[in-house]
Amino acid sequence: MRLDDVDLADNDRFLDGDTPWRMFDVLRAEAPVHWQDEGEYGSGFWSVTRHADIVAVDRDAATFTSSKFTNLEEVDERQATIRRSLLETDGPRHGVLRRILQREFTPRAVAGYEVFLRGLTARTLDAALAKGTFDFVKEVSADFPINVLAKMLDVPEDDTQQLIDWGNRIIGNTDPDYADVLLHSEESEKYRDLPFRSPASLEVFEYGRELAGRRRGGDGTDLVSRLVNGTPIDGVPLSGHDFDNYFLLLVVAGNETTRHAISHTMLGLIDNPDQADRLRHDLSLMPGAVEEFLRWASPVYHFRRTATRDVEMHGQKIAEGDKVVMWFASGNRDERVFDDPYRFDVTRPDNDHITFGKGSPHFCLGNALARLEIRIMFEELLPRISDIRLAGEPRRVRSNFVNGIKDLPVTVTLA
Ligand code: HEM
Repeated sequence: MRLDDVDLADNDRFLDGDTPWRMFDVLRAEAPVHWQDEGEYGSGFWSVTRHADIVAVDRDAATFTSSKFTNLEEVDERQATIRRSLLETDGPRHGVLRRILQREFTPRAVAGYEVFLRGLTARTLDAALAKGTFDFVKEVSADFPINVLAKMLDVPEDDTQQLIDWGNRIIGNTDPDYADVLLHSEESEKYRDLPFRSPASLEVFEYGRELAGRRRGGDGTDLVSRLVNGTPIDGVPLSGHDFDNYFLLLVVAGNETTRHAISHTMLGLIDNPDQADRLRHDLSLMPGAVEEFLRWASPVYHFRRTATRDVEMHGQKIAEGDKVVMWFASGNRDERVFDDPYRFDVTRPDNDHITFGKGSPHFCLGNALARLEIRIMFEELLPRISDIRLAGEPRRVRSNFVNGIKDLPVTVTLA
């Protein structure tokens, strides 16, 4: 691939499992801070692709703000105000919002879900594996994280399919298989005030508000109760918009990402049976292996920041107001940090991946939960099978934001 062929704004380039990585390779080698035109879709953005530079941007919230939005869309101040979640908030206000739920996501707090998770994983796997040949995404990885979230939000298990569907429609806003209104289509303009410009966001808001209404003033310990009855911000309870956007963020952030991490890990283990064997024979390797799974999967390709002042990086003049995109996935293949970065190595030492960001106040709130879910999934799966192979071509989500797998047909041999 040549530098001229790189186009990170083109979602079609993300449909196969290879092109994005080749584009990142060229950028890291030849143009680590690179201007990307967006044509009619936006004003363009700077791509930052080396590990050290991504961390430098992620750390420096004063120079690279989140308040102008963290996806590629350009939103005006009014839209930002009604669409903003903690992810799009800086400074003390961000700290207050984050603290409302921080304690629910510590490694200690999420360890309390281990027994529930093992039971859920065992049930999910036993039902799927009994089929012999099945779609790993639909039968295993899609249901699993959302059931955990359903428990944390205390919503009925019957609603989980609905939550999956909303997540697909919202995060899949660039994929014709998922989106009811495709981003960049003329119709999507009508939904500018909604997160991801997706009408499904309205349905999530309604659902969340209904839950909030029932929990307000109660003594529940679920996440919704914590949000509506938790610490007020400057003496004022969470506003309606704050609640809506927080609730939606939880539904999509804790759902799609972990699902894709599990699917990519499965594919990684299928492509590297020696690594699967190694783990199967020594499950004590699992904590380190999970870090490799996360590096390998890189389910979030990027987040965006906006420069608050003129700043120079690698000789490029980034102007105040320019969009700056941190390509976490590229950082996770940076040969300056990872020895033989395209090798899937469950014993990789010093795995400094940036799958959850690094050094930012926005560092993934759900990282301990995601780590636990992934560990338990593969601790339960590997001893149950002696072999697993592809039974068809995997299909990927059309998106330069989420590195997702839609279908992963597999055939298993039980142990
Ligand atoms: C933030 C990735 C799972 C909730 C983030 C960020 C990334 C990320 C890259 C932004 C970090 C930054 O800007 O430096 C992932 C990945 C996951 C995952 C790859 C799975 C493998 C989860 C789960 C939850 C969650 C299970 C739980 C509900 C959040 C929230 C934020 C966030 C609420 C915003 C934090 C803030 O703005 O302070 N995540 N995440 N994530 N994540 Fe995750």
